[in-house]
Amino acid sequence: MAGILESLGYKLSSDPMNSDVVLLNTCAIRENAEQRIWGVLGQLKGRKRENPDMIVGICGCMPQEENATNKLLESYDFVDIVFGTHNRNNLPELIYQAYLTKSKVVEVLSTQGTILENAPKVRESKHKAWVNIMFGCDEFCTYCIVPYTRGRERSRHKDDIISEVKELVSNGYKEITLLGQNVNAYGKDLGSDYTFGDLLYDLDKTGIERIRYTTSHPRDLDEKTMQAMADCKSVMPHLHLPVQSGDDDILKIMNRKYTYDDYMTKINRLKELVPDISITTDIIVGFPNETEEQFQNTLKLCNNVGFEGAFTFIYSKREGTPAAKMPDSISEEEKHERLTRLNQIINAGYKAGHERFVGKVVEVLVDGPSKHGDDMMCGYSSHLKLTHFKSSDMSLIGKTVKVKVTEPKTWFMIGELCE
Ligand code: 5AD
Ligand code: SF4
Repeated sequence: MAGILESLGYKLSSDPMNSDVVLLNTCAIRENAEQRIWGVLGQLKGRKRENPDMIVGICGCMPQEENATNKLLESYDFVDIVFGTHNRNNLPELIYQAYLTKSKVVEVLSTQGTILENAPKVRESKHKAWVNIMFGCDEFCTYCIVPYTRGRERSRHKDDIISEVKELVSNGYKEITLLGQNVNAYGKDLGSDYTFGDLLYDLDKTGIERIRYTTSHPRDLDEKTMQAMADCKSVMPHLHLPVQSGDDDILKIMNRKYTYDDYMTKINRLKELVPDISITTDIIVGFPNETEEQFQNTLKLCNNVGFEGAFTFIYSKREGTPAAKMPDSISEEEKHERLTRLNQIINAGYKAGHERFVGKVVEVLVDGPSKHGDDMMCGYSSHLKLTHFKSSDMSLIGKTVKVKVTEPKTWFMIGELCE
């Protein structure tokens, strides 16, 4: 959207409250993400009163939810534009309409259109880039709103992805992260037998230094993809593989379509192919009626896998999903207590993931000066470990340097730049 706005002549502002156009690109995955948006809208209301020419737009996943759009229309009449995830390419038209009519412009499509290639883009970094490879999700996990807000799986054609990556390489980019709600389902909707694993092999040949990808679904993570992680030098030895729960009954009610054993089999195969791989995950605690015993199975799985990081969440009820209708006997207090116990294990995993590199030399793609102290720079190692080291040489930004790890912390590691 920033790219589209720049092509219309707008410039990116660092001061949203004093901008001509303010777009709130929203997330609906959990209730607290939405709460933040209602808070920001409250602040914008006052600004809009002082500056009626300011255009306020709200877009992304929240407008795809009927309840949220109704609330926006009923209680936030100062909002000029409301548009959903499938209307983004129409942004110039929507802004034009808002200026012209001075009345609210609402456009929320329930079905997705085709993927627009070659839309203008703005990239935040000059050495790292996100590359979308597919949109939407067909998994329908019972707690999750994404299939409703993002629509069905649509993959970009491989030739478009490969040429985008080749162009990034020729512009000096070092690292790409392939993006999709379920990248392992890449290509299924195109009806060809070209899979995500094939794409990894092809992208490895473009000369890009580092490839990462997110997010994977354990059921769809296949042998070819795991093999590509072992074979392709550019595919980094880190995998984010959301497990959600370690209990077979909960996994079934979540509609995750794998068991504890299926997940462990994939983890063991990955460790066989990429022996020093770092694995991180997503976990939900307090799914409706989750018992202490079921929660214990999640803790057991964490200990068996040895996750080196996780995003952990308390289950959040999303209207319109099947889980929202499930009765729930577990108290909020109990859910918070479980989250605390889980995080103790996860945080120890973060630290262990740094401890294992002490004394070793890691390759760090330098992002810039570190907030950790004067004369410090930072970047991420191949295993996606945030690494700080002493240097004030700005010419290192965007370069890959060797760093000897000296000190492991919970959230990062410290090392010395090798000559
Ligand atoms: N409540 C809590 N966490 C959720 N996630 C998705 N939906 C919900 C929900 N309703 C988490 C999952 C997913 C991550 C992106 O967000 O763990 O992997
Ligand atoms: Fe949501 Fe991920 Fe499940 Fe898709 S695979 S429904 S995005 S949790």
